[in-house]
Amino acid sequence: MKAELIKINPKNPEQEIIDRAGKILREGGLVAFPTETVYGLGGDGLNAESSARIYQAKGRPSDNPLIIHIAQMEDLETAARRIPKGAVRLAERFWPGPLTMIFPKTDIVPYETTGGLDSVAVRMPGHPAALALIRAGGGFVAAPSANRSGRPSPTLAAHVAEDLGETVDMILDGGRAGIGLESTIVDFTEDVPVILRPGYINREMLVSCIGQVNMDPGLQEQNRPPKAPGMRYRHYSPRAPLAIVQGEAGRAAAFINELARMEEQKGGRAGILACRETEHLYQAGLVKSIGSRSLDETIAKHLYQVLREFDQEQVSCIYSESFDTPRMGQAVMNRLKKAAGGRVIQVPDDE
Ligand code: TXA
Ligand code: MG
Repeated sequence: MKAELIKINPKNPEQEIIDRAGKILREGGLVAFPTETVYGLGGDGLNAESSARIYQAKGRPSDNPLIIHIAQMEDLETAARRIPKGAVRLAERFWPGPLTMIFPKTDIVPYETTGGLDSVAVRMPGHPAALALIRAGGGFVAAPSANRSGRPSPTLAAHVAEDLGETVDMILDGGRAGIGLESTIVDFTEDVPVILRPGYINREMLVSCIGQVNMDPGLQEQNRPPKAPGMRYRHYSPRAPLAIVQGEAGRAAAFINELARMEEQKGGRAGILACRETEHLYQAGLVKSIGSRSLDETIAKHLYQVLREFDQEQVSCIYSESFDTPRMGQAVMNRLKKAAGGRVIQVPDDE
């Protein structure tokens, strides 16, 4: 492995480590670092060559723009133009935190960072190590999730090492990412702000702060592409094919049991994505509980890790329950459906 893997105190990051990592960024290198959502793969967002290196390291299509991470509010105007009052209000309420906003870009931001677009995505993360690194690295850190393109986002430094250990210069290990799903993205380039990617900050929280907020219709409709380029690709995917089984819990479990038995008869092994409330219902396959429906943050937190574990256990297919919970359901189901490539099996309620 080429990358240096260094443990860092997530609450009170060691300045000596931050200084070394910041120097790598200022010299055009790549540093993977923890944020409160998922691990990011950082480069200097104002340096076109660094951004090109990020795309290369991830194997990411070059039309899929990067998010610029800042550490202080004053820097927003350096990267972005036409910042409406609503955006300022969201920043005051949710920054630093798991929220990304999109505006027209300024000239200082290279097209290599924005995937050729005239708009730019900006976020101020809440993780102390991320904030310290951004300051040390020059203030504008472009960072996609630190996975190989198409793989589940990393929530542990070990996931980053697995995907990118050969291609980045340094990996900062700050333990588990707290939220486990990528930031909510709100587009402010239209008259009414639009959610391009659901996340921990859900629609209700945005509406209660600024009033009207729309959902990108492309997230739901089959025949209309999502506006965020990254939401168009099959994404977040484990290696084995995944299908979501929807329906009343008992019936869905019975159906998944049946599918898992059929897989065993074929000589394979099914992975089953269940939760604390239902795991006892399964008698076949490799069952993993990802959390509790009554505390649905735990489901968001473990989703990507469990998808990676199924890869390691080399299951031949994966069946998941549906997790349409009130708090995190939008975000969890958005990622799960993408991981499933849209395969949803509906179990009828009664005959
Ligand atoms: O939580 C997060 O946001 C993490 C951490 C590291 O901060 N980052 C992250 O970046 O998820 P990435 O590159 O994996 O996802 C960025 C998403 C992509 O879907 C991309 O297409 C979209 O944001 N995006 C970025 N700039 C955009 C723009 N100008 N217009 C529309 N979509 C944009
Ligand atoms: Mg990503």
